[in-house]
Amino acid sequence: MAKKTRLQSPPGMHDILPEDQSYFQKVYRTAESLVSFYGFEKIDTPIMEFLELYEKGTGLTTDIVEKQMFSLKTKGGDILALRPEFTPGVMRAFLQHGMTNLPQPVKLYSIGPVFRYESPQAGRFRQFHQVNLEVFGEKSPAIDSQVIQAFYNLLAELKLKNLVVEINSIGASCCRPYFKKILISYLRSRFNSLCLDCKRRARENPLRVLDCKEEKCQPIKAQAPQIIDHLCEECHNHFKEVLEFLDELGLPYRLNPYLVRGLDYYTKTVFEIFVENPAPEGSLPVALVGGGRYDNLGKVIGGRDISACGGAAGIERIIEEMKNSGLRISGEVKKNVFLAQVGNLAKKKSLKLFEEFRQAKIPLAESLSKDSLKVQLARADRLQVRYALILGQKEALEKTIILRDMKDGTQETVKLEKAVREVKKRLKK
Ligand code: HAM
Repeated sequence: MAKKTRLQSPPGMHDILPEDQSYFQKVYRTAESLVSFYGFEKIDTPIMEFLELYEKGTGLTTDIVEKQMFSLKTKGGDILALRPEFTPGVMRAFLQHGMTNLPQPVKLYSIGPVFRYESPQAGRFRQFHQVNLEVFGEKSPAIDSQVIQAFYNLLAELKLKNLVVEINSIGASCCRPYFKKILISYLRSRFNSLCLDCKRRARENPLRVLDCKEEKCQPIKAQAPQIIDHLCEECHNHFKEVLEFLDELGLPYRLNPYLVRGLDYYTKTVFEIFVENPAPEGSLPVALVGGGRYDNLGKVIGGRDISACGGAAGIERIIEEMKNSGLRISGEVKKNVFLAQVGNLAKKKSLKLFEEFRQAKIPLAESLSKDSLKVQLARADRLQVRYALILGQKEALEKTIILRDMKDGTQETVKLEKAVREVKKRLKK
């Protein structure tokens, strides 16, 4: 006997059911109108790219590339990966299409699904959606602040409260190698006390030890040298200016010397945005937004150095926060008119009348599949419509229709051809 197909979506991948669509639409619409105000234009890149783009761009020693890629070999032998993030793909598109020749900066946004093979848990999925912003060709710290401001305002417009920006600078090739040396030598002296993951990180990607969440590593982190004390003059000034812009904008931020982010391409500014509500017991607060500056990614993936800064917001996490804070979004259009029908001829005429209301853009509720007038009027009641149109056998033959005011119970018979006009007139009152 053939094995039954499991009626279950894959782990960490979810259906977006009709009742949640209104939340997604709300985030999409708010994001699109907000970012276009800041001058961002939309770009859609493929859901798959060559795997090597992420190996080079996101970084071979990152968790994303080491453990979380969904990849496949095509029939033609290409190795492709489902995008685990937008940034390398958008940078690839920027270079491929010669956008370096456009007036700079070029500001691009994308919205869509991304895929990471993570252990599914609260706020952590294998397929999730991001609003992603990238600014290319501008090295001014004003841009770092503007990206943060755009994300902050997106969350604020979605009515999320208690927002806080965490920010740090992780320097660049001018000062980070020197800091790495200092950090490695410190970590060597504490090597035996590090957690298993950090023992590996200390060799491969020592900065990542600084954002380890393991209890065991916290005292080591607390005494570790901080990169902020070892920035070169240029990186230091850049960071200082970013903070001055944030002060000017009045955005609440907190310096977090341990914020290093899990992706290899960042230079200078890195940031995350959180909602500062107490996290449920046993869970760590999750960032709604993460991003930063990445001036070397263009060269790393095979182009040339392009000043760049961006970030991404996780839509599922935002929606979860909206729901937690009691925000209800209903996608239903309020309908003020209900069409009831009794008998075959009336049913046929109802279909045509329904079309006339659609063309007049008057939302009309109906229960075409129901025959009993009582059942249909009970539904009209439940929907709290203002008017019910009742088309019975007699009315259908006489080409009339009953128009009932559901508020005061009065009703009158009007010509069928004038039904739309009569309803429109009353709705305007
Ligand atoms: P990221 O921090 O990896 O950055 O992801 C950004 C946001 O995506 C996170 O703050 C979180 O809200 C959401 N997110 C990440 N992983 C998951 C998951 N497994 N389940 C649900 N939501 C998740 C980036 O992706 C960078 N590309 C951002 C960037 C753009 N940097 C510069 N430009």
